[in-house]
Amino acid sequence: MFKVNDNYLKLPGSYLFSTIGRKVREYQEANPEKKVISLGIGDVTQPLAPAIIEALHSAVDEMAHAETFHGYAPDLGYEFLRSAIAKHDYADRGCMIAADEIFVSDGAKCDSGNIQEIFSVDNKIAVCDPVYPVYVDTNVMAGRTGTYDPKTEVWSDVIYMPCTAENNFAPELPKETPDLIYLCFPNNPTGSTITKDQLQVWVDYANKVGAVIIYDAAYEAYISESNVPHSIYECEGARTCAIELKSFSKNAGFTGTRLGYTVIPKDLKSGDVMLHSLWARRHGTKYNGAPYIVQKAGEAVYSEEGKKQLAEQVGYYMRNAKTIKDSLASMGYTVSGGVNAPYIWLKTPAGMTSWQFFDLLLEKANVVGTPGSGFGPSGEGYFRLTAFGTYENTLAALERIRGL
Ligand SMILES: Cc1ncc(COP(=O)(O)O)c(C=O)c1O
Repeated sequence: MFKVNDNYLKLPGSYLFSTIGRKVREYQEANPEKKVISLGIGDVTQPLAPAIIEALHSAVDEMAHAETFHGYAPDLGYEFLRSAIAKHDYADRGCMIAADEIFVSDGAKCDSGNIQEIFSVDNKIAVCDPVYPVYVDTNVMAGRTGTYDPKTEVWSDVIYMPCTAENNFAPELPKETPDLIYLCFPNNPTGSTITKDQLQVWVDYANKVGAVIIYDAAYEAYISESNVPHSIYECEGARTCAIELKSFSKNAGFTGTRLGYTVIPKDLKSGDVMLHSLWARRHGTKYNGAPYIVQKAGEAVYSEEGKKQLAEQVGYYMRNAKTIKDSLASMGYTVSGGVNAPYIWLKTPAGMTSWQFFDLLLEKANVVGTPGSGFGPSGEGYFRLTAFGTYENTLAALERIRGL
């Protein structure tokens, strides 16, 4: 008789955004005349930039001819894309990352979920609280998190690093020593960032205790302040302790097109074993590469035209972020984020729980946001709004919230 991986049975409820989707669907079915505006899930709304569309068309044409047709991609990704990444995302920022330390993938969700596979099941993880749910859930699936207490919503074998207003949403070094440390800046969901000096403290700590930092920089393109690092490799010593995850979803609108990459420096070792070799082995065995067409589109992200167009696109969303933040503040809400990130994090009013505020917003304002408690116990009493809507919808949603 077969047995299931019963770690899956330990997972509480459904994935956060599935629950939100179900609630919104049920509300819409009961109230078909209402027009719901979503500032909930972190999905983009602007179309792909012209430079990217052009690259896609031309790559599609190549696929139509035997001489320029492409089959399976190379294991690590096409050289043209890895070189562009190494130059524009790293060398131009003074970071030493070689093209062959970059693994192209179909996005940061898979990579952030899969990366734990190359570590022993005995490793102890530390996560910011609140945090992007994928880090904890995938470690639950792997059997690394112990038992779950539904009352406190805490896993016995996870080190939580609370990020609340009290510490300006920046985690403090944990008291118990972790093996794997998940950091995500600019942060989802709080929209907060840490300075290069603050990140350097983490890099020094990880090197000292022999931990690996898994650094999720999916929102790097939204950084507007000069003291905030774009990559962990801006910090000295990061090559021996950090893996970096990047996505093309938020900087270039690839949420539906799918492209991302993971950097594992060859200096990152456990004894003699390079993590790079393990990830290369996994990539080669379990993954057959992002499509050629999409990797060509990714290359266009780094062209002069592409860069210009994408800066405008990010600017469009950041105008939304500023509008949301300023409007909510003028209504008396306590808000943060929105300066280096497309997320606005607000304190729920009148001591409401996150889900109570979700229901109020959905039913009375027909606006969808994301309950902070869905991102971890310290997210309770907070709420996330995203700047990824259209400007018009953002304004309309704010008017409705003002009318509550
Ligand atoms: C922190 C973080 N990492 C990764 C991802 C997933 O990115 P991708 O679309 O590349 O899978 C998201 C998506 O919302 C995210 O918020």
